[in-house]
Amino acid sequence: MKYLTTNEIRNIWLKFFADKGHNIEESASLIPNNDPTLLWINAGVAPLKKYFDGSVIPKNPRIVNAQKCIRTNDIDNVGKTARHHTFFEMLGNFSIGDYFRDEIIPWAFELLTSDKYYGFDKDLLYMTVYPTDEETLQAWVKEGINPAHIIKTNYNFWEIGEGPCGPCTEIFFDRGEEFGDLTTDVIRDDIENERFIEIWNIVFSQFNSKPGVERKDYKELPNKNIDTGMGLERMACVLQEAETNFETDTFMTIIKDIEKLSNEKYDGQMSYKVISDHLRTVVFAVSDGAVLSNEGRGYVLRRLLRRAIKHGKSLGINKPFLYTLVPTIIKAMSEFYTYLETTEELVTKLIRIEEEKFFETLVQGEKKLEEIIETNDKNVLSGKQAFTLYDTYGFPLELTVEMAEEHDFTVDTEGFKREMEKQKERARSARKSLVSMKSQNEAFIEFKEQDSFTGYSTLEESTYVLKSFPEGVVLEKTPFYAESGGQVADKGSIKHGDKVFIVEDVQKLPNGQSLHVIKDNDLSDGDIISAIVDKDNRNMTMYNHSATHLLFAALREVIGEHVSQQGSNVSSEAMRFDFNNYDNLDDETLLKVEKIVNDKINKNIKVNVTEQTIEKAKQMGAIAEFGEKYADKVRVVNMDYTIDLCGGTHVSNTGLIERFAIASIESKGSGIYRISGHANNAVENIKNQFTGFHKEMDKLMDKVNKILSDANIKGIKLSFNFTRNEEIIGSYQDIINKRIEFQLLGDKARELDKEYKEALRSQTLSNLDDMLKTAVDNKLVIRVEGVDKNSLKPLADRLLDKLPNGFVFIANVSNNKVTFIAKSANKEIHAGNIAKAAAIVTGGNGGGRPDMAQAGGKDTSKIEEALLKVKELIM
Ligand code: ALA
Repeated sequence: MKYLTTNEIRNIWLKFFADKGHNIEESASLIPNNDPTLLWINAGVAPLKKYFDGSVIPKNPRIVNAQKCIRTNDIDNVGKTARHHTFFEMLGNFSIGDYFRDEIIPWAFELLTSDKYYGFDKDLLYMTVYPTDEETLQAWVKEGINPAHIIKTNYNFWEIGEGPCGPCTEIFFDRGEEFGDLTTDVIRDDIENERFIEIWNIVFSQFNSKPGVERKDYKELPNKNIDTGMGLERMACVLQEAETNFETDTFMTIIKDIEKLSNEKYDGQMSYKVISDHLRTVVFAVSDGAVLSNEGRGYVLRRLLRRAIKHGKSLGINKPFLYTLVPTIIKAMSEFYTYLETTEELVTKLIRIEEEKFFETLVQGEKKLEEIIETNDKNVLSGKQAFTLYDTYGFPLELTVEMAEEHDFTVDTEGFKREMEKQKERARSARKSLVSMKSQNEAFIEFKEQDSFTGYSTLEESTYVLKSFPEGVVLEKTPFYAESGGQVADKGSIKHGDKVFIVEDVQKLPNGQSLHVIKDNDLSDGDIISAIVDKDNRNMTMYNHSATHLLFAALREVIGEHVSQQGSNVSSEAMRFDFNNYDNLDDETLLKVEKIVNDKINKNIKVNVTEQTIEKAKQMGAIAEFGEKYADKVRVVNMDYTIDLCGGTHVSNTGLIERFAIASIESKGSGIYRISGHANNAVENIKNQFTGFHKEMDKLMDKVNKILSDANIKGIKLSFNFTRNEEIIGSYQDIINKRIEFQLLGDKARELDKEYKEALRSQTLSNLDDMLKTAVDNKLVIRVEGVDKNSLKPLADRLLDKLPNGFVFIANVSNNKVTFIAKSANKEIHAGNIAKAAAIVTGGNGGGRPDMAQAGGKDTSKIEEALLKVKELIM
């Protein structure tokens, strides 16, 4: 066999097809762009769907790629089997209505068997074909493949979720008897084995698969296409004659570095495989902008990371370590994926934070698990126990199952799911009593008659009550926007004759109608009413919502296309927008983003709102969010600069927003950040951000005033100038300015304090001569007031300097406390004893060396008595 490195295998592939007129397309991001049907890019064809379904015409109908893929449906098998991965690379070549069977089969044969390329012995190759696909069978025979090596199977239809699919022919390589005394029956029956390894799949991609549609009813694609996929890791395994995919060059680079941490030699242990696979996945996904979080993609990554940590522990690595291996992953992969070097620092940081967090809970969780296991003789972990581990200790269910298995325990996973449901229900009811009413109230569930929303074009409606509930009413037509898509409900009123009901909230009922929540509802079905939306409130909400779309687009422009929406909330007062990023944004970036939004506002862009099919919307470049369910027809809000799918209310021209200001940015943890801001007149609300600053500034001013009044009493003249700025310009610059103002006040207050202390010190020292006059026999006992504690010792020193072989004792009264300091140059007088005696008189304690001592007293009314005592002792 010809040994080829992983990089060589990839390069041969790309070059072979480039020489056959293919465009080399760069690997797309692992995060699907505009494809809400996919969690991750999971095949080479996934990012190319747009070409297959005809919505975009490629420049060249021949495409070749090496595509990063993630598949996470089988995480538990990774490490247990020889070939499962969560991240892998798929080498692919594609024909969009260009070449077909007659070209691809001879090319495949050439690439596989020629010594110029992979150099396989043709007699060790086996092919599968779809039972009715005689043409492909004959095409292989024509190339010289023994007909006995061609196996018909029903499995040969490739599809993976929605999108292009079709019959396929797979190529297997026989690794020989040492990998099992097997016949090709294992291929026919699709049995995973170590001897016959599938290396390539060629799909005659002719159909479009749709969930819920039977295969025979799939629509034909506009063209006959070719979609092929070769698993790079498998090829490396076969060509490098490695036992499993993990003993290949790429993985061994990683495993070698794990060995250094575990001090244990790799000998096929599962933990090495799990760590190297999972960490590789996380590094690639996070580099592509994914975050570690508690839902969707983020949760998958969190699970992988935690499983890897757990396997690190099995290898005796009991501290965060994965982040130290990020450079290793990059070393192993960056020859082709050069961009990894630029994300190394951020990825390392995010993984370290996540690991440290998990370590804290892991230790406690394991203790808890052991406790449960010790006191449980049924060998089954209950759903509740597994849920506690999940909820309190952050153990993904799969991890609990795996750990339980190690103790010969099983887990009641159904019970776990029930607990999870219960928790979701609790969260729902906590969120809003109305929402819980919505899901529990039979009357709401039973109510099916539909209302209609007219509020995109009118704010007032004369209509009638379709249905009255104790909580409020559903109207036949309503101009009121019900809370949805992050936009809060409209405010306003419902008039019935002379009676006016204030609409407190508008919520969607289980069957989609809008319930207007009102107090003391005495309306009946059929009552004629007028529904009036508060116009100002609606307009302000609209400005904030349209500004949110511009903000999202500006963030994508400034910080990168990896930014995706993670939540939003829009009201008349403010907007907030959550998004993923590697790091917090600095002032400069925020100002830049804010400026772009304002530029777009000032450009007076006409906003076009239309209804489209989801396909058309995507073609227009509309941003669809993963996990959102979209109806067949979607509402497309087109601001030219950004096109979004959105049901909210928007301005007809960006100019109406007038202005926009960012008010804050905060981290929500796990790589999610929240920007809040205000549009139009709501920018005044930016002042709300000043409250915290002003509170702190008030505290500083109290300190300043205290210093000024103390100084005044002592006859010390100090000046202090500071005026607080209450004006705003209506930009994030206001926040920056306030921060600077706060710092400035802090600096000035510190400066004043220093000045005051200096003045006090020189005041005290200038009184030296007066003090010395009271010395008897070079022994001085005095009382001073309010000398600050740093000046007391220098004062005693200066006094003693003027008293050869003398003694100084000072009682300093400050803040209703007394401090004594004694310094002695007289061998006969022990400063420590004297200070102690004085302290005792005033109910305190202290003492010290013969030459120098300090002590404190409590009862200031006894100071004179204490001084007398001192005089008595030293005379
Ligand atoms: N799309 C085909 C696969 O993933 C080639 O196997």
